[in-house]
Amino acid sequence: MAVPDNFPSESALDDWLTRPCARLIEFIRTLSSPLVILGAGGKMGPTLAVLARRAAEAAQHPLEVIAASRFGDPRIRVWLEERGVRTCSVDLLEADGVRRLPDAQNVVYMVGLKFGTSKAPAMTWAVNTLVPERVAARYPQARIAAISTGNVYPLAEVRRGGSVETDSLHPLGEYANAAVARERLFEYVSRRQHTPVVLLRLFYAVELRYGVIADLARQIQAGTPIPLANGWFNCIWQGDANAMIIRGLDLAASPPAVWNLCRPELFSVREVANKLGTFLDRAPEFTGAESQTALLGNAAGLCRILGEPPTPMDTIIRWVADWVRSGGRTLERPTHFEVRDGQY
Ligand SMILES: NC(=O)c1ccc[n+]([C@@H]2O[C@H](COP(=O)([O-])OP(=O)(O)OC[C@H]3O[C@@H](n4cnc5c(N)ncnc54)[C@H](OP(=O)(O)O)[C@@H]3O)[C@@H](O)[C@H]2O)c1
Repeated sequence: MAVPDNFPSESALDDWLTRPCARLIEFIRTLSSPLVILGAGGKMGPTLAVLARRAAEAAQHPLEVIAASRFGDPRIRVWLEERGVRTCSVDLLEADGVRRLPDAQNVVYMVGLKFGTSKAPAMTWAVNTLVPERVAARYPQARIAAISTGNVYPLAEVRRGGSVETDSLHPLGEYANAAVARERLFEYVSRRQHTPVVLLRLFYAVELRYGVIADLARQIQAGTPIPLANGWFNCIWQGDANAMIIRGLDLAASPPAVWNLCRPELFSVREVANKLGTFLDRAPEFTGAESQTALLGNAAGLCRILGEPPTPMDTIIRWVADWVRSGGRTLERPTHFEVRDGQY
C-alpha cells in the first residue's frame, strides 16, 4: 500500500493509523486471547486497540481485544465496538475496579493523568501510582507493556543526544515524579510476584489532530510566536508507536525491561517550524533562543530490537501542514512542549 500524500478525512486518517504492518501481523499470532488494553479511551488507546484487532484479522488469529477505560466520552466506546473491539467501562480508582477486569495473559497499560496536575496534584498521584499497583497485582502471571513517559528524565544536554535508560530519574514537577513512582510501583510488584513487565518511556506521539507538530503548525497559522528555550524534542508517528507498544509485550521481563520509545533522531523546534512554515506559506515567529538542555531521549536501543519506526519526519510534517491548512479537526489538547519547569 502506497503512503498517502494527505488525508481527506478523519476516517482516512484512522484507517491509516490502524493499518497493521507485516511485523505486527506476525507477532499478533503469538498472543493468546484476550489482549486487554487499559486506559484505552484516551488519545492513543482507541487506534491501538483497533490496530491490534485488524492485525489479528489479517493473521486470521482468533484474538479478542478488550479495551477498558472510564469512557468519559461514550462516542469512543461506540467507535471501538463498531470496529470489533469489546469494551469494558471501569474506573480503576474505584475499590472493585480491577476485579471487574477480564483475565488475560497480555495487558497493555495506557492509564495516565498529566494535564491539570498543577491544579489537582493529588489526583495525578492517585491515578499514576494507586492504579499501577492494583493492576500489576491483578495480573501476576500476565505480560504487561506499561506506557511510561520521557518526562521521568530531567532535562538533558542536547549535545549528549538525549537521556538513556540507565540515567538517574530526578525530574522537575509533580507529574514527572508521579510518573517515576508509576514505574517504581510496577517494578516493585514485578519483583515481588515475578510479573514480566516492559516500561516504555514514550516521548511525544504525534498524529494530525494533536501532538508537537500539530501544535507548531497551529501556532504558525495563528501567528503566535513559538518559544525556543526548549528547542529540541523527540517524537514518533502514533501508528508506529502503537505497533511498537504491542510488539513490546515480547520484551517484558522481571525485573522490568525499560526502553525509550520514539524516533531515533532529535528534532530542532526551529527547523521543524521552518519546514512547516514553507508548506503553510507563512514564516514562523520565534521568541527566545535554544538552551543547551531539553527534554530528550535516546531510543537507539529499542530501535535496534524492534526496527526503526517506518514513518519519517518529513512525511509527518507534510501531512500535518496539509491537515492544518485544510481546516482538519484538532483535539484541542496542546502538548505544552515548551514547558521546562515540570508544571503541567
Ligand atoms: N500521547 C503522548 O504523546 C504521550 C507521551 C508520553 C507518554 N504518554 C502516556 O501514554 C499513555 C497513553 O497516552 P494518551 O495520550 O492516550 O493518554 P491520555 O489521552 O491521557 O489517555 C489516558 C487514559 O487513561 C484513562 N484513565 C485515566 N484514569 C483512569 C481511571 N481511573 N480508570 C480507568 N481509566 C482511566 C482515561 O480514559 P477515559 O478518558 O476513558 O477516562 C484516559 O483517557 C498515558 O499514560 C500517557 O501519559 C503519552
